[in-house]
Amino acid sequence: MADQGIDDSGLSWIVSITSAAETYQLGEAFGRVAEKNSLLLLFGSLGAGKTTLTSGIAHGLGAGESVPSPSYVYAFVYDKGRLPLWHFDFYRLYQELPEDVTPNLANWPSSRHAWRELEPELLDSVGWYEALEDDAVVVAEWPQGVVNDLSDALVVVMQSSMTDDVEKRILQIFAVGTKSQFLLANWRKQWQSL
Ligand SMILES: Nc1ncnc2c1ncn2[C@@H]1O[C@H](COP(=O)(O)OP(=O)(O)OP(=O)(O)O)[C@@H](O)[C@H]1O
Ligand SMILES: [Mg+2]
Repeated sequence: MADQGIDDSGLSWIVSITSAAETYQLGEAFGRVAEKNSLLLLFGSLGAGKTTLTSGIAHGLGAGESVPSPSYVYAFVYDKGRLPLWHFDFYRLYQELPEDVTPNLANWPSSRHAWRELEPELLDSVGWYEALEDDAVVVAEWPQGVVNDLSDALVVVMQSSMTDDVEKRILQIFAVGTKSQFLLANWRKQWQSL
């Protein structure tokens, strides 16, 4: 795992990863520094490692195994840790978005306003707003339909490397908002001390 540095603005950190275990470890480091109302949006194709990262976060929070939310279909809830963790996987909802909402991650965060958001009623019915109001850590896979109005979040873009090495990943982490900027710096410090 190599730290490619945080940019001068403190908004963006790039990490290259060489194994699933390292992705998990990176998540663990986040779980240790996460604060209430931390929000992490995980972008990346199938198998990029979003769930692996989330499992690491749960471990770092001391949260143990997840249980499917009793109330919501796309949510898993970990309530045994230092803070509650809500883990959403919106893949099915993502698939129902119109084709033209494919995000331009190169232009994040300005490009997010071009995306069509899912209907508030739908987001409410899957527990999204309850999670955001729960003083919890909230992690979402396939979050393309839920991001428009977020003022503070960490945006993680996970990409497989172009090489033959199937375990290599490049993670680019953007901080949107001052709270997330602070969290990003703490996450990096924590990861460097592991
Ligand atoms: N560097 C890596 N980081 C994470 N997972 C890796 C890595 N290298 C290989 N893998 C493997 O890739 C798979 C990643 O699965 P995971 O469920 O975390 O992906 P995902 O992004 O959540 O996919 P999905 O969109 O289907 O939910 C696992 O089988 C894992 O062992
Ligand atoms: Mg997953």
